[in-house]
This record gives sequence, C-alpha cells and structure tokens, in this order.
Amino acid sequence: MFGAPRRARKCLNAFPTMTQTLCRIDEIPDGDAIGLTLDAAAGGADIILLRQGRRVFAYYNECPHAGRNLDYAPGRFMVRDGRIMCAVHGATFAVEGGECCGGPARSGLVAVPIEVVDGDVRLVGAGIGDSGLGIR
Ligand code: FES
Repeated sequence: MFGAPRRARKCLNAFPTMTQTLCRIDEIPDGDAIGLTLDAAAGGADIILLRQGRRVFAYYNECPHAGRNLDYAPGRFMVRDGRIMCAVHGATFAVEGGECCGGPARSGLVAVPIEVVDGDVRLVGAGIGDSGLGIR
C-alpha cells in the first residue's frame, strides 16, 4: 500500500552481552538526532540517537506505522519540542520514552539499550542497560 515492504523488527536479544561504543555524545547535536547502522555483530539494525542536553535516547529507526525509516534524508531527522516526527506520514513520538504522540502510528518506538559513560555513547547487552541514561 505504501510501496516499501515492512522490515522485520530486530530482536533485542540479538545484542551481544558486552558493550560497544557508538559515538561521542558531542557528535549528536543537542536537541537533535543522528542515525547509525549497527554492525552485523550487534544486529545490523538502523538506529536513532537523540540528545537532550546530557541525556541520550536510542531507538530502532523503524516507524511502527508502516515499518519505514523515520529520517527525511539519510541520518537527518525532524526533531522539535521533545518530539521526533516520522518523515513518511507524520507520526510523532516522544524523544524521552518513544511513546506515540500523534499521527497514524498505534504504538511507540522500540528502545535500544545504551549508556553514556565519560562522554561515550555505548550499546549495552540486552538486560544490562536502558535507553536514556544520563552521563555518569
Ligand atoms: S511510516 Fe507512516 S508515519 Fe511513519
């Protein structure tokens, strides 16, 4: 119906039990987001890293409405007033928590477990961490 096939949602259990540094927090513009693709050992998924001051939130880059990426151009996202908007049909999601705030989606974004330690944004193994942790 929308042209692009739905992509299978990656399972959090695919993450390794050790940590992996994704980037430095300073590489994420405050109040904005960047997109990354995890390497195959970490599941190979496209993810979004959103920054609000000293906090970072991570989600799969997959809209729950039609399974499309949320970016309007590769790695570029519409973020404003604590919300991120899917560029495809306009669903909005809370940066903090990923809940759906409006538009056609019926559920929220799926969080990716990360932590921020000494300025490094790190992917952590399933069950070890949680999205949105502040800098220690
Ligand atoms: S794919 Fe339809 S709102 Fe995101």
